[in-house]
Amino acid sequence: MKLWICLVLASLAAAASAQTCQCDVLKWASCDGTPCECTIFVAKGEKQPINCNKLIPKCFLMKLEMYRASMNLSTRTGIGGKPVETAFVDNDGIYNPECERDGKFKAKQCNNTEECWCVNSAGVRRTDKGDKNIKCEELVETHWVRLQLTHKPVQGEVNAEKLKAAIADAINKRYKNFNTSMVEEIQYDPEARLIVVDVKKEIGERQTDLTHMAYYMEKDVKVLPLFKDEGNKFAPVVDGQKLDMEKILVYYVDEKPPTFTMKHLSGGIIAVIVVVVLAVVAGLLVLFFARRREKQQYNKAQQRELDPM
Ligand SMILES: *[C@@H]1O[C@H](CO)[C@@H](O)[C@H](O)[C@H]1NC(C)=O
Repeated sequence: MKLWICLVLASLAAAASAQTCQCDVLKWASCDGTPCECTIFVAKGEKQPINCNKLIPKCFLMKLEMYRASMNLSTRTGIGGKPVETAFVDNDGIYNPECERDGKFKAKQCNNTEECWCVNSAGVRRTDKGDKNIKCEELVETHWVRLQLTHKPVQGEVNAEKLKAAIADAINKRYKNFNTSMVEEIQYDPEARLIVVDVKKEIGERQTDLTHMAYYMEKDVKVLPLFKDEGNKFAPVVDGQKLDMEKILVYYVDEKPPTFTMKHLSGGIIAVIVVVVLAVVAGLLVLFFARRREKQQYNKAQQRELDPM
């Protein structure tokens, strides 16, 4: 009986110590204390407490990466196409964002410069760049992300029918129980080894954040997982065959279309505008000189009439 109690106590102690204080969702977090608390550096001397039971907000992650880059620590390293005309990709890459207390992006971002722009809930620029006075009324929510994944070559064929369930399952397991019902549609091109995954939520839904999941996946595929357990990457399994990913491109679709301007107006349209402006100016000049000559002739004629007198 005594031995039995000893065994129970020993196993309880082992279980307690196995519950070490660490952050599984972020290898760069530092944790300590009882209860266990984890923080990350988001700037020199500035610690941000984080909740390691969920994916860490992208805004905090970007700050952390900028900080690590500034300290010369290691950091970050593009077929399907746009799902809709208003979809866009992140052409700017990383900047040093301003975050709300809960880790959401502030709608207006300036990267510590005088040049500012408005972002969506994924922190991706959705307007032209402007000066400090640019108005960003609200943080516009991204309700649809298209993940374009290219997988590494595999032996044999991939069963396209089973791919959707495999992807949804892999996303759910790896990204903190992400809701599989949001993995709405999958298209597959075996030749190009391209998998297009549409992840959507209802407009107005504010419980789930698609962009945290997308960011973790981007990191996973681009060689540097954020998770503590770096060995295990995002790799769906179809018929016992693991699909390792080698490329990812993310398209964002916001609840309101972005407001990029002009730059997309092709050279042709700009040329037409220039020609029209030049024609109008030329016309005005011709008119002006014609009027002046008319006046001069009138004056001369008047003089001639006066001469005989
Ligand atoms: C933000 O600033 C950093 C460093 O100042 C720069 O390397 C980066 O390209 C900037 N990013 C954007 C999106 O302007």
